[in-house]
Amino acid sequence: MRNTRSSLLLGCVLLCSASLLYLGMSGIKCPPKSHRYRWMELNLGSANQSLSLTEHFPEETPLIFIGGFPRSGTTLMRVMLDAHNAVRCGEETRVIPRLLAMRATWSRSVKERMRLDEAGVTDQVLDSAVRAFLLEVIVGHGEPAPRLCNKDPFALKSLSYLSRIFPKAKFVLMLRDGRATVHSMISRKVTISGFDLSNYRDCLTKWSSAVETMFSQCQAAGESRCLPVRYEQLVLHTEEEMRKLLHFLELQWDPSVLHHEELIGKAGGVSLSKVERSTDQVMKPVNTDALSKWVGHIPSDVISDMAEIAPMLARLGYDPHANPPDYTRPEPTESLFNDSQNLKATETPHPS
Ligand code: A3P
Repeated sequence: MRNTRSSLLLGCVLLCSASLLYLGMSGIKCPPKSHRYRWMELNLGSANQSLSLTEHFPEETPLIFIGGFPRSGTTLMRVMLDAHNAVRCGEETRVIPRLLAMRATWSRSVKERMRLDEAGVTDQVLDSAVRAFLLEVIVGHGEPAPRLCNKDPFALKSLSYLSRIFPKAKFVLMLRDGRATVHSMISRKVTISGFDLSNYRDCLTKWSSAVETMFSQCQAAGESRCLPVRYEQLVLHTEEEMRKLLHFLELQWDPSVLHHEELIGKAGGVSLSKVERSTDQVMKPVNTDALSKWVGHIPSDVISDMAEIAPMLARLGYDPHANPPDYTRPEPTESLFNDSQNLKATETPHPS
């Protein structure tokens, strides 16, 4: 009897020890951490710094906004930044430019402004609500990171407004030869409201005007807040352009930005949407295949009137008479800021 009890006791002790040993061992095996998480631990001591910053000092958040005319390499730019160990951009949110466009209309009419003021819905109240909405979306739609970034191409139509509600934010404006941009839109049937995809003249005229709206605001924000990046320079002189960009964003050099394709789908790396139009292209390493694809596709009457149809080509340094221009010719970004006729911002009206 005593023997049976001792054996039972011994059995229990052995079983408990084995369980404890197993639990201890499995506790040691932690799940692998992403390269961005490891960076945050080393540099910031916590993965939630950006979250606490947005909670306590929302206007101080040093957000990065990437934008430009669609088909200008905006997705390529954001995936390259996503590959940086301190940055997370993520997919297009789509709702951010819509809210910004709506905000621009709220105070446009004097009568409506007066009605809102009477109701206590001041510009200050509205700005604070817009800031909170933007932050919720930017923070909530992806992983945490020390520097959060947003890429919604047309959000930069409200660049001046964004720079006011986020005084620490920086802006990256992607520029590309409008002939290539419009050819890409038309050949890939990328619809943009108001653009007639059967008409190169119409699309180039509207491309020029939309780019002018964004470019003028970039110039007005100044070199410390907004960096225009030419797509052609990015794919031809990738490391040089990315070093310039990271310096502008006050980020350390990280060679991962040159190989974004290696981090696709990895934790802390590059997350892609199945439905965005550029996904299949950004899965490839940076390449120069798309530089001159537009040549030979634009009707000859449009080619002859190019300088008048798209005045922004010349202002951005693209020869409107060359088909194609020499994209390898270096055009320093600083020269874009010295164009005095651009200094008057043609911002989408927003209250000051
Ligand atoms: P094309 O349609 O002329 O090929 P956006 O993301 O702003 O819509 O821009 C799309 C353009 O970015 C596409 O132009 C595409 O070629 C280019 N792009 C995407 N990934 C690229 C890569 N890995 N290297 C070079 N260009 C790339």
